Amino acid sequence: MDNHRDTAPNPLTEPELPATELPATGLPVADLAGAEAVVRILPIAELHLHIEGTLQPELIFELAERNGITLPYSGLDELRGLYEFSDLQSFLDLYYANMAVLRTEQDFADMTRAYLARAQEAGVRHAEIMMDPQAHLARGVSLKTCVNGVASALATSVEDFGISTLLIAAFLRDLPEESALEVLDALLAMNAPIAAIGLDSAEVGNPPAKFERLFARAREAGLRLTAHAGEEGPASYIIDSLDILGVERIDHGIRCMDDPELVERLVDDRIPLTVCPLSNVRLRTVDTLADHPLPAMLAAGLNVSVNSDDPAYFGGYVDDNFAQLTAVFELSEFDRARLAANSIHSSFASEDRKAELLDELNGG
Ligand code: HPA
Ligand code: ZN
Repeated sequence: MDNHRDTAPNPLTEPELPATELPATGLPVADLAGAEAVVRILPIAELHLHIEGTLQPELIFELAERNGITLPYSGLDELRGLYEFSDLQSFLDLYYANMAVLRTEQDFADMTRAYLARAQEAGVRHAEIMMDPQAHLARGVSLKTCVNGVASALATSVEDFGISTLLIAAFLRDLPEESALEVLDALLAMNAPIAAIGLDSAEVGNPPAKFERLFARAREAGLRLTAHAGEEGPASYIIDSLDILGVERIDHGIRCMDDPELVERLVDDRIPLTVCPLSNVRLRTVDTLADHPLPAMLAAGLNVSVNSDDPAYFGGYVDDNFAQLTAVFELSEFDRARLAANSIHSSFASEDRKAELLDELNGG
């Protein structure tokens, strides 16, 4: 093959190329509070976002009051003081507890609109939003309430925020597969507007193989497939998610770096990894952001994107993730454009929508 080139490398079409500076694209620039860098806001797709993890402390108190719920916290300061996590489970305990304030369709819609408004500022132009229906059913909130509430906000998202969206039903891997199968059937029976399924909650001890039938059924129903793997769990969970569940995308996936053969496979097959750096720091999967494997993952040629996971809990939205990564690793504009392009290529959006987003990223 002739490797000669007489044009500059383009991160939008050639993500495997080494880092090189891109010319300015004329896109809006945002000041980065607390760090020296100024980071250009790029149009991106956010692919790893739990809508319940966008519930901000202020909204928790507002919804509690609206619904006549007495919270076990004296005020915002006490609640905020609890956002110190030692691992995934310590976060999940608070995340599930705070969902108690979500009771009505309006509550779900308000939470979703608050995320979309903030995501718009962060440059998000397409969002693939996970929700945890089983967590709401367990509290006596119906599927209709949670699904219709979120879906009502998504229905006007393009018009209101310029963000195209799709909904992912995530299943809790610490519950039995039978529960997931029942809920999937109920979602299909009610014609819920879901495009994909995911797998989340406590990873270690709940391996992908436990959900083989669930993913087979979702595939038969024409749904797209993704799963959390290799967040706290081992690299083998990533392999099993691909081989046993047949997922198209891996949420997190950072533990792939423990297995060079797996890295090679992920690179060769361009498997998307939806990485969430601030989440990994807050849940102590890595010690500090400076220890995060994202630069090594990019250097290895992995198809990584940057996402916020549970932004209300982990200290930032996707723009904050980009800003802090840029400050710590001096990411070049080429690297950021490559991450943005990866997010778009890796989305479940239509080819037309992807082309539109790539065009916008290209300054068009
Ligand atoms: N990991 C696993 N499950 C989750 C997460 C996460 O970061 N957020 C919400 N559910
Ligand atoms: Zn997640």
